[in-house]
Amino acid sequence: MVEVVGQQWTGVILAAGHGVRMQSRLPKVLHQVCGKELIRYPVELLHRLGVGTVVVVVSPDNDARIRQILGDAVEYATQPEMWGTGDALTWALKQLDGRAEQLLVLNGDVPLLTLDSVSRLVQRHLEQAAGLSLLTAQTVAGQDLGRVIRDNQGRVVDIVEPAGRSGSPYPQVPDNPATEVNVGVYCFSSGFLAANLKRIEPSSQGESYITSLVALGAESGEPIGSETCGDPDELMGVNNRLQLSQVEAIQRRRILESWMIAGVTIPDPASVYIDGDVTVGQDSVILPNTALRGHTSIGEDCQIGPNAVIEDSAVGDGCRIIASMLEGATVEADVEVGPFSHLRPGTYLESGVRLGNYVEIKNSRLSTGAVSGHFSYLGDATIGAGVNIGAGTVTCNYDGRDKLPTVIEAGAFIGCDTMLVAPVTVGANAATGAGAVVTKDIPAAGLAVGMPARIVGKNRIPHRAP
Ligand code: UD1
Ligand code: CA
Repeated sequence: MVEVVGQQWTGVILAAGHGVRMQSRLPKVLHQVCGKELIRYPVELLHRLGVGTVVVVVSPDNDARIRQILGDAVEYATQPEMWGTGDALTWALKQLDGRAEQLLVLNGDVPLLTLDSVSRLVQRHLEQAAGLSLLTAQTVAGQDLGRVIRDNQGRVVDIVEPAGRSGSPYPQVPDNPATEVNVGVYCFSSGFLAANLKRIEPSSQGESYITSLVALGAESGEPIGSETCGDPDELMGVNNRLQLSQVEAIQRRRILESWMIAGVTIPDPASVYIDGDVTVGQDSVILPNTALRGHTSIGEDCQIGPNAVIEDSAVGDGCRIIASMLEGATVEADVEVGPFSHLRPGTYLESGVRLGNYVEIKNSRLSTGAVSGHFSYLGDATIGAGVNIGAGTVTCNYDGRDKLPTVIEAGAFIGCDTMLVAPVTVGANAATGAGAVVTKDIPAAGLAVGMPARIVGKNRIPHRAP
């Protein structure tokens, strides 16, 4: 972690607003961009910057859910009623109780900010010994943003909020030249806030705006610092779902670009979706129509897709996953899956396992070299090294009340269409005939056939090397 800003700084994130313009039952900052809740973006940015303390301003409405996501990595201040961004900051200061010297305040709904822009703002703030500094950007489409007003010497003197602040869900067609807008990132000295926060005049709706501090500072001759975002995309806030999708598109492109630069091949980025918490190893190829979601890691030299969906799963080096879905699965190196297989939570495939078409696996471990080439269901099963699962095999793991285990020991050969009625164990190197319905354990090297299956002798099928 690069300590760009330093421990003496305190980060504050304003995240109490419900986000009425989202038209949602879910609080705004819990909506996701590339698989990550909006609120996690500013928190991670502040931690990357190396600030000492982070206070998140929450509301009684979203408090519990935000705490669930962020845990004790941050402190919380509850704003009892939504009286605007100025009021929200007051509650953060109450929580800090005089502990903060320099404050870096971020709106909770501006996820595309970069480390570079925010650290440049901090540097500018310190160089100018300003009481207040703010990040700005030039845009032609900032109708719902606060406009930065400068005097004839170029000094920031005010921020004018859009009239009404109700916000049309559609951005108006821009026909005016670029204007400078407020991004929603501020540096404050605690002395400046102590002197000015109480002086904010509420709006006609009774809300107090953090942006009013600019005019108050300018009037009292306080130097006000400003810095411009390196990339105009950074200013995009999320107020409605149209903006949510626009922000998602930009963040998605950034993620794909960074993986390609890091050595991952993505021939068709337009159809590939990689969430923010995913990692992909060098020389892996992510083929079209593939989504890598949640906490997923992909090893090196893998071929993923086309048409793969992998969620909260770990895939080792050298795997091929074609047109299949993985959820909560762990796959070691050199495993092949698909097309059209489904690995459900609790699946663990050791190295060299091969799964073919239409194989569903849940809560099961397949040891090295086990093979299930064609349509099968394996649930609550422990499958030994080198086991061959014939087409149509089903672990009958549910008796209507409980989920029951199946054990197939190393080297066993399960004939086509075998039903393994759990709980049941097939011994090492045993075999079942086609269509066997196995209701009793089969001893090692035994052969069981029929319905219900009977032990009829020894397995004569040569063992596969795992
Ligand atoms: C705000 C700025 C605007 C700037 C824009 C950048 C104000 C008055 N205006 O407008 O100048 O261009 O951000 O995106 O600040 N919040 C609270 N408590 C409240 C109200 C809001 O914590 O009582 C939080 C929200 O959860 C949100 C953030 O503050 O994360 C900003 O509030 P929002 O209503 O989205 O402000 P904007 O209209 O976007
Ligand atoms: Ca906003």
